[in-house]
Amino acid sequence: MPGFSDRDRGRDRGYGGGPPRDRLRKKHWNLSELPKFQKNFYQEHQDVTHRTVQEVEQFRRTKEVTVKGRECPKPILKFNEATFPSYVIDVINKHNWSDPTPIQSQGWPLAISGKDMVGIAQTGSGKTLAYLLPAIVHIQHQPFLEHGDGPICLVLAPTRELAQQVQQVAAEYCRASRLKSTCIYGGAPKGPQIRDLERGVEICIATPGRLIDFLECGKTNLSRCTYLVLDEADRMLDMGFEPQIRKIVDQIRPDRQTLMWSATWPKEVRQLAEDFLKDYVQINVGALQLSANHNILQIVDVCNDMEKEDKLIRLLEEIMSEKENKTIIFVETKRRCDELTRRMRRDGWPAMGIHGDKSQQERDWVLNEFKYGKAPILVATDVASRGLDVEDVKFVINYDYPNSSEDYIHRIGRTARSQKTGTAYTFFTPNNMKQAGDLIAVLREANQAINPKLLQMAEDRGGRGRGGRGGYKDDRRDRYSGGGRNGPFGGSGFRDADRGFGSKGAFGGSKAQNSGGYGGSSDGYGNGNFGSSSNGQGNFAAAGNQVGAFGSQSFPAGPAGFGAMQRAAHNSLSHPPFPFAPQPPSQIPQLPPPPPMVPFPMPPNFPQ
Ligand SMILES: Nc1ncnc2c1ncn2[C@@H]1O[C@H](COP(=O)(O)OP(=O)(O)OP(=O)(O)O)[C@@H](O)[C@H]1O
Ligand SMILES: [Mg+2]
Repeated sequence: MPGFSDRDRGRDRGYGGGPPRDRLRKKHWNLSELPKFQKNFYQEHQDVTHRTVQEVEQFRRTKEVTVKGRECPKPILKFNEATFPSYVIDVINKHNWSDPTPIQSQGWPLAISGKDMVGIAQTGSGKTLAYLLPAIVHIQHQPFLEHGDGPICLVLAPTRELAQQVQQVAAEYCRASRLKSTCIYGGAPKGPQIRDLERGVEICIATPGRLIDFLECGKTNLSRCTYLVLDEADRMLDMGFEPQIRKIVDQIRPDRQTLMWSATWPKEVRQLAEDFLKDYVQINVGALQLSANHNILQIVDVCNDMEKEDKLIRLLEEIMSEKENKTIIFVETKRRCDELTRRMRRDGWPAMGIHGDKSQQERDWVLNEFKYGKAPILVATDVASRGLDVEDVKFVINYDYPNSSEDYIHRIGRTARSQKTGTAYTFFTPNNMKQAGDLIAVLREANQAINPKLLQMAEDRGGRGRGGRGGYKDDRRDRYSGGGRNGPFGGSGFRDADRGFGSKGAFGGSKAQNSGGYGGSSDGYGNGNFGSSSNGQGNFAAAGNQVGAFGSQSFPAGPAGFGAMQRAAHNSLSHPPFPFAPQPPSQIPQLPPPPPMVPFPMPPNFPQ
């Protein structure tokens, strides 16, 4: 079952992949014997106090903030209203952000008041600071750490890269607050991590496997932990992680404060989450159903597996001729990731691959190269689908459709971070048919144009609802059989030596030849009920009014078809033409072998 076993759920394998070993005993807590601690530090700012109930309701309505649960404080509208210490505000001010995002506006007062909570808001909407800054307030009110004490705040994250990223954000604010933080994750030497823990850290960001390892051998403990965060909580509670989370949470006093965050909150985890929460408040920003960040233009191409590679190349030619062209291509399996990266590099594309079977050294190197270096194309499995914040990613391509609609939301959410916009292309094949209904719902919610072929597919399926989370059973087939050795990458589609990349070293040299592919006429399926103007739900104050944000946005002239398509969709003037008209195989000219590969940054030889 290679399609199944090779799937990369980005799990920290430090734990060995099996069920948790039983070296950690479940603690039995007697609350009356535990030292008392405070968790409500919220003092409402006078401007907030003066705000009327109507004003609060008006704010929540315009920002689409929904609150469920008892005693949720009023939102704060300005950074200073959150009453953070001045050294925290100083760091915020350095970023020149205009206002808190809606999840911060409502999440900060709630978290500072000590309540357990679930915070659900779009990808790229600033959830990391929504939980980290209240953590600093929480810690500042606790007794100092003593020798042998473990962390006061524990943040659990599903991937090593995300854990490291959160640690970078934490470190920025910890420096100003004279707090110490560290990141505990698998695949890296244990020595430095153990030394950090021994020195004492108030904030520990961890992937579950390595943390359990350290807890088992007594390198740290959670008896001081009173502020627990599950970032990407639905992922942390799904079947891949849940036993480990339980094991960790059993080590933490039950009167702790627990906070869960994600952009998606499928019903399958809601009940389970309640095992870890007490009298909690849930905040949702945006639609209550599964929803994508509205700053993303979503384009779905319904095609066959065999067509994908050719389409990918044509798409990349367009993208690479754009000034801002940072792109993540998501594939389903590690093997596919390796194959696609190899073929792309062979043909001169500046691509790098990342997946869970690579050494951590290589994963870190590749991600850094993508963030700051010369490789604008990252081929990735779902190991990169959650939480990663690379600000200038402009395009996400779902080469293989993900296994769950939640993963789709997170993957495309790697673009349009903060106030930015981005575009997501998705190849959708008959194999993915059972997910058509969910995808249509997501597109509709975001006022996107819907490919009639997708609608047709959903109709053919008889309008059946969700196929269940993950759909593992149905998905065990070998996904890459369709694109095997003789598939399009090995075939002439990808060997098109006329493309203008390869030995010429410049991409998109032949963009003219493609303009028809992505542009073309917009007829075919009426216009009207799409476009993004009707939603008022931006992540950020500045993007709150999308009509304005998109209306005033000038997209780069770019290649005719592509640029035009973006403009059309974002302004909802006319239907974006569906690109990717499949080329009958007979029309693909037989061309000479591809040019030799151009030297793009090669990962050093990392031991695996
Ligand atoms: N108030 C703000 N105004 C503008 N940008 C902000 C604000 N707060 C945070 N950001 C920036 O927004 C970006 C996205 O933040 P973050 O990674 O926390 O998003 P997220 O909601 O956790 O997304 P995901 O669901 O993908 O994990 C970061 O670069 C962060 O610095
Ligand atoms: Mg996040």
